[in-house]
Amino acid sequence: MVSYGKPSTILFIASAISARVASAHRFPEDFDSEKFAAELKELRVSAGQVTADNFLDGNEFIAPGGKDVRGPCPFINVMANHGYINRSGRNVPVFDIPALAPLLFDFPKSMFTRPANQAIFDGQVDVGSTGDLLLDLVRLWDRPGEERDISQVFPNPGLALTEELLSLPVGSELKADNREAFVDFRYTVDEDLLQQLLSLSEDGKTMTQEQHNTHLTNRLEDSFAHDEFFRFSDDDTEVAATQYVLPCIILGTDVKDFSFCSRSSIEGLWREFRFPDDFAPRSVRFGEAFSMSDYGDAFRGFMEDNVHVIEEAREEEKQKPGAVKAFAM
Ligand code: HEM
Repeated sequence: MVSYGKPSTILFIASAISARVASAHRFPEDFDSEKFAAELKELRVSAGQVTADNFLDGNEFIAPGGKDVRGPCPFINVMANHGYINRSGRNVPVFDIPALAPLLFDFPKSMFTRPANQAIFDGQVDVGSTGDLLLDLVRLWDRPGEERDISQVFPNPGLALTEELLSLPVGSELKADNREAFVDFRYTVDEDLLQQLLSLSEDGKTMTQEQHNTHLTNRLEDSFAHDEFFRFSDDDTEVAATQYVLPCIILGTDVKDFSFCSRSSIEGLWREFRFPDDFAPRSVRFGEAFSMSDYGDAFRGFMEDNVHVIEEAREEEKQKPGAVKAFAM
């Protein structure tokens, strides 16, 4: 089990009351693959000569220490664990995160400027008097009483918010058990969810986008059936559809086929928030043989498949009596 930083109870209760706004990772609608490929080429030249063999040199994985903090975003945690941002997870200039997306993932910055701006808007980023915009990664857990784009491996917050806990009388002290339910439980990768995902691998070696799409379907059905606080908006649909594509497309190592990756890379991502030791983005690994436009098209296709299964599950749910609450936002 992987455990990360714990905000205080006060922070939890305050953010549960005021929270909203999804993190909004999205594939840009106006993505111009040729323009971006040219920009990326220039960026890689100015960043210095790298090859697949030395890509991670100087950015080796180091597990977080006792005082380091991490958040719910797997790839920001990866950035910290590989030293691309402060390994402590504190005082991270928030726009350094989208700025790293081209270098590390072959994605345009614009794909992640929106979540960066939303983190500022949500009050998760300290806005300094000199214009510094610094993020402590643990703050990304704020708004914990809400559905969070149906995480692949973190438990639904709604499962902990029982009527009994929500009706604790004024002045009642949080007991040890309640503290666990209110504050601690959701910062830990849920082993069952992780196993549900990994066990979809048919050969024990690879995982596909299709299997991530199946995991998404299962997560939705299960959440609708068992989490009475589960809410899923149109915005969540697009965000989740994108988030379920990211791990496998980033960690895949084929020059043309973007639909699969290694199972152990997915396990390493979720258990340790790490790149495999031989990681390199495809534009580094394959140079001119890598087609940015095929990559963009594949991404859009996988995302649309995900949107499709979400919409089907939502439609099915809407037909059920009493299900309207799940679409209130
Ligand atoms: C400043 C930029 C970013 C911010 C503020 C951010 C924030 C978050 C937050 C708060 C979550 C939790 C779920 C949610 O609320 O949607 C999340 C999940 C996620 N993020 Fe990010 N993120 C950023 C950039 C990135 C980047 C660069 C990637 C990958 C290239 C990424 C990939 C993901 C994925 C795959 C999830 C889903 C995790 C799950 O299923 O549990 N994010 N992010």
